[in-house]
Amino acid sequence: MRDLKVSPIRNGTVIDHIRNGLALEVLRILGVEGLGKDSTISVAVHVRSQRMGWKDIVKVENMELSPQKANAIALISPSATISIIQDYKVREKRPVDLPDRLVGLLRCPNPNCITNQGEPVESEFEVIRRKPLALKCLYCERDLEDFIPHLAPGASGTRGNGG
Ligand SMILES: Nc1ncnc2c1ncn2[C@@H]1O[C@H](COP(=O)(O)OP(=O)(O)OP(=O)(O)O)[C@@H](O)[C@H]1O
Ligand SMILES: [Mg+2]
Ligand SMILES: [Zn+2]
Repeated sequence: MRDLKVSPIRNGTVIDHIRNGLALEVLRILGVEGLGKDSTISVAVHVRSQRMGWKDIVKVENMELSPQKANAIALISPSATISIIQDYKVREKRPVDLPDRLVGLLRCPNPNCITNQGEPVESEFEVIRRKPLALKCLYCERDLEDFIPHLAPGASGTRGNGG
């Protein structure tokens, strides 16, 4: 808190240790348009960090992060941490954590994949390697290593009340 780059918030969520330069992608995942006016958002880009060299930070008032959005953030920035702020204090702080399977979070890059045929089939990817992260489509076995262009709109998926 000593070198706080943005003003403190009373209640909300802090996404810290975001990979340098990816704050705007995190905002896209959060779906800024869907947040109300009481959710003031502060963004710090290119912040000096002991641990990472440089990092980005996003702080959102009066918002809780859905598990699906936390998964999307883990995907693009495995180093990110999520802190829940209540009454100006850190109630909870945890690293993001990517599950072994991701449902409805990404579009398969294979246009012929069953998940791209307008059928009611949600995409499903399996983590086949953690470092560096690589995923494989469970339907067509296509590999995916470039996640940002394939995040589903809003990255909220269509299942599990991600939105
Ligand atoms: N009232 C607040 N308003 C906004 N952000 C806060 C508030 N309190 C803490 N934070 C932020 O929440 C995160 C976790 O807070 P904490 O005090 O544990 O940070 P830290 O000691 O820098 O830990 P870390 O090792 O995770 O960087 C940090 O990003 C901090 O800047
Ligand atoms: Mg810190
Ligand atoms: Zn596929």
